[in-house]
Amino acid sequence: MEKEIKINFEVITSYDQLNDIEKTLFNKAETIREKAYAPYSNFFVGCALLLENGEIITGNNQENAAYPSGLCAERTTIFWTSANYPDVKIKKIFVIGAPKDILSSIPIPPCGGCRQAILEYEAKQKEEIEIYFASPNGEIIKTKSVRDLLPFSFDSSFL
Ligand code: THU
Repeated sequence: MEKEIKINFEVITSYDQLNDIEKTLFNKAETIREKAYAPYSNFFVGCALLLENGEIITGNNQENAAYPSGLCAERTTIFWTSANYPDVKIKKIFVIGAPKDILSSIPIPPCGGCRQAILEYEAKQKEEIEIYFASPNGEIIKTKSVRDLLPFSFDSSFL
């Protein structure tokens, strides 16, 4: 029997359509993106994460000559956040990615590994985390939960 899973997302047509806090997150993600350490892929990713206490934490991708030893922007940011603010809830994550020096307009979605990492903290805090992903230019995609990006997700309930 064929079944369907419904996922929800919103398309925000441009930066101008964002509200003030979203604009701040966009700007901070873009600023930190430009400082990514990505000499091997030249693909620069920035992440800005809003905490329930109003603080914004930022991070970017960190590559390594031994390629698998590098880490994505989202995990760099969320791991640091959990290490330093283990009991503070995360409200929103904003991700911007693009090749260095290219004014891309394609929204860059978080990779599968980062979705899984975000899911862990969403489950831990028992509250959904809104995900936004974008490029430096163009549309922004928003979901209310990482579960919209990760159907059939694996979590601790299976252990
Ligand atoms: N990258 C991220 O930082 N986040 C993602 O979700 C996708 C990929 C980084 C990893 C690597 O440094 C570069 O982009 C190319 O894959």
